[in-house]
Amino acid sequence: MDNPPLVGILMGSANDYEIMLEAARVLKDFGIVMEMTVASAHRSPQKTSRYAREASSRGLKVLIVGAGAAAHLAGVIAAETTLPVVAVPIDSSALKGLDALLATVQMPAGIPVATMAIGKAGARNAGILAAQILALGDASLADGLRRFKTELAREIDNKASLVEERFRKDLG
Ligand code: RP5
Repeated sequence: MDNPPLVGILMGSANDYEIMLEAARVLKDFGIVMEMTVASAHRSPQKTSRYAREASSRGLKVLIVGAGAAAHLAGVIAAETTLPVVAVPIDSSALKGLDALLATVQMPAGIPVATMAIGKAGARNAGILAAQILALGDASLADGLRRFKTELAREIDNKASLVEERFRKDLG
């Protein structure tokens, strides 16, 4: 039997899919089993509430929640679970995600939602943060995250060398 999902990725609309796929890609790279679905705080509140209430007993450990516009989804989910909720404000409205960012990050005291950057960068970071939370109890995942950071630094060093070389050519 396949391993059960540890991370639930939820989004407010099927139109959020391309953004939230960034989170899923990161989780896949780290070998983390996930599930993904759509539920809307406003359009399908009963499904949303059920998802939040059942998430922990189904074995999920972290929830990644993306929503745009008047984005209440992450807060509504966080209200009904004690699992960590990582939120991605989606740039799907005329206000380009600033509305979703403020709606998501300005949670009242008592209902924490870990709010990432707007859009794809935020979704990617949501995947990494979920992996970091799971790595607290998984030494091999923690090793994978250390390798990931080493690789990030190596990529930057390579680019730094290119910039230095170009600078010497142009103005040296
Ligand atoms: C939010 O409203 C969704 O998360 C989506 O980003 C936004 C617009 O939804 P659609 O009208 O595109 O379905 O609930």
